Amino acid sequence: MTFSRLTKSDLSVRLDQALSSEQGRLLKTAADLATLQHLPLYIVGGFVRDLLLGRPGLDFDLVVVGDVIGLARTLAARQGGRVTVHSKFKTAQWFPPPGEGLPGFVDFITARAEIYKHPAALPTVKPGTLIDDLRRRDFTINALAIRLDGLHYGELSDELGGLEDLEAGILRTLHSQSFQDDPTRLFRMVRYQARYGFNIAPETLALIPGGLLQINHLSAERVRHELDLILEEENAASILKRLEKLGILESVHPALEWNQVIQKRFEKGLNAEQDLSHSPSRRTLAWALWLMDVPSSGLVGVEKRLHFDSALRDMLQAASTLVVQAGSLTGKKPSQSVAALDKIPLKAVQAVTLGLPAGATQQVLRNYLESWRVIKPKTTGYDLKKRGLPPGPEYKTLLRKLRAAWLDGEIKTPEQEAALLDKLIKSVG
Ligand code: CTP
Repeated sequence: MTFSRLTKSDLSVRLDQALSSEQGRLLKTAADLATLQHLPLYIVGGFVRDLLLGRPGLDFDLVVVGDVIGLARTLAARQGGRVTVHSKFKTAQWFPPPGEGLPGFVDFITARAEIYKHPAALPTVKPGTLIDDLRRRDFTINALAIRLDGLHYGELSDELGGLEDLEAGILRTLHSQSFQDDPTRLFRMVRYQARYGFNIAPETLALIPGGLLQINHLSAERVRHELDLILEEENAASILKRLEKLGILESVHPALEWNQVIQKRFEKGLNAEQDLSHSPSRRTLAWALWLMDVPSSGLVGVEKRLHFDSALRDMLQAASTLVVQAGSLTGKKPSQSVAALDKIPLKAVQAVTLGLPAGATQQVLRNYLESWRVIKPKTTGYDLKKRGLPPGPEYKTLLRKLRAAWLDGEIKTPEQEAALLDKLIKSVG
């Protein structure tokens, strides 16, 4: 069925089918309360888009024409859970009591118009109509709404051409200032393009250069959030390729490159992720596979622009150093490689292992991850104390020597370890 032929009853059936009984009950409760309070209530944005595309999600964005905060508070008072309110933006988040398949929270927004005082800044808002609320959004396909209250249940609001564009697979901004107001929409556009295989409308393509000029005004958090979302996408590699082509990556920071070598490493590394036990999260791994050959000095600039958290920052720096130095490990004894690798965050070693081509260097890292890392002597500090050795830095040295002997194959049994320990203690004494 084409979207344009969808009737109100088709849509209510689609809604009912897409929602589990618990999810349906959650929305129905909100809708019943809105009906009682004579407040038009709509579900908008990504949920509607994905419902029509046959891939409904759990992202419930609800728009109320009227007092959203009162509605959310009454809902929580009746149904339980808690509400947080953002009075300035007239929005509320309801965290319903946990239930199977329920979202962690539901966003309630007062229908509003937005005014951008400066490009790339957060807008000021004033209450408005549903159409005002849809008009302030990014793309026509995200400006569709389905009404939920009372007899209106299932009514589609398509005032801005979203349905036609969804059907034709077209990404189109709602006005010519869209990217300048909010350049994060450039990232969102490319993400949707790859996710749905859509095309960009020619007049929207023509707006890209104006948006690029505003990217440097975006805060670190907003750009990083967009890149984080992209790295979670199945088609992350093609999105990054497209961002590079459009000049978006360079506008974020010149050290953010994308080319065939990176792409190959990135795709191969993410596909092989399951080869490693306890591998880093997909997002962390993706960052490292992308940036591991950016030299340390370039990474400092990227980190300044994107404000990574300290764990990711240290991991990326370590991965970048390891990529350069890993080749020298092939000529070393296992104990020497272990001494070097133990100093590096484990996630960095894992990422570099997945990023390197198969060969001797990768094998050293694999050996480390799969066996050397956990090889430890049987002797403990407690045993050394029992042997009458005074506690001190010597303990560490002795245990390290025992571990090295195991790693390098000089000892293979606990008896041999005991004999070596005797010898080492004698030489200390
Ligand atoms: N939105 C917007 N401009 C932005 C971010 C969001 O207009 N920069 C609007 C869009 O209408 C979008 C809605 O807010 O549909 C919700 O935003 P979000 O949850 O980020 O996006 P989704 O559409 O749910 O898409 P995704 O599948 O990427 O989560």
